[in-house]
Amino acid sequence: MSALEIDNVCKDFGSTRVLEEVSLAIDSGEFLILVGPSGCGKSTLMNAIAGLEPVTSGRIKVGGDDITWRTPAERDIAMVFQSYALYPSMTVHGNIAFGLEMRKVPKAERDAAVERVADLLQISHLLNRKPSQLSGGQRQRVAMGRALAREPQIYLFDEPLSNLDAKLRVEMRTEIKKLHQRLGTTIVYVTHDQIEAMTLADSIAVMRDGRILQLGTPDEVYNDPV
Ligand SMILES: Nc1ncnc2c1ncn2[C@@H]1O[C@H](COP(=O)(O)OP(=O)(O)O)[C@@H](O)[C@H]1O
Ligand SMILES: [Mg+2]
Repeated sequence: MSALEIDNVCKDFGSTRVLEEVSLAIDSGEFLILVGPSGCGKSTLMNAIAGLEPVTSGRIKVGGDDITWRTPAERDIAMVFQSYALYPSMTVHGNIAFGLEMRKVPKAERDAAVERVADLLQISHLLNRKPSQLSGGQRQRVAMGRALAREPQIYLFDEPLSNLDAKLRVEMRTEIKKLHQRLGTTIVYVTHDQIEAMTLADSIAVMRDGRILQLGTPDEVYNDPV
């Protein structure tokens, strides 16, 4: 059984079709990278998986359960956006704990989770700061921490490194790779960076104009591109 199954998903915005019969099956523990030119529908597909945009037709399943019509909160999925979207009035600790609080996780458990991810992402010394007091790279780690505090069935990352400078991108890429190896979680990750795609992915899905053109290992996509 696939960890995530996308079955013939179409999405229209008004009269414009943005996703055209997208189908994908992702195994448990797989790191799938979604690549494609700007505007091809990558974020729309991620938002549909997360439940932030309703699909026009088709189905989405997680661990065999049809979640197509569940709210984002009812889906066992955590998402990291391109824009970090941290709550400016909350501390780093508050931001990381927020998703758990929404899910009514008891305080002691929340605090333990915050400590665990802060340690992992090396931001323990920043927990009492507000987002405005952080660098771009630190904010990015907090956004990542907020997702990692939970242990969902699936992580979605939508170009999480695109606002970082080159050096930090390389560092964070290594960090994400290690996290995946350590946690063994299923990940769908959007990037338009070829190096990121080649180094992180178990498999790559190439999208254009709302369709999946090719799905294969990095090797297959690189050496035998459709
Ligand atoms: N809320 C929306 N309303 C109308 N059109 C949208 C909306 N969101 C995205 N689009 C359009 O859908 C297409 C795909 O967008 P998007 O999924 O953001 O692409 P990508 O993430 O691959 O750059 C684009 O043409 C975009 O303009
Ligand atoms: Mg996008």
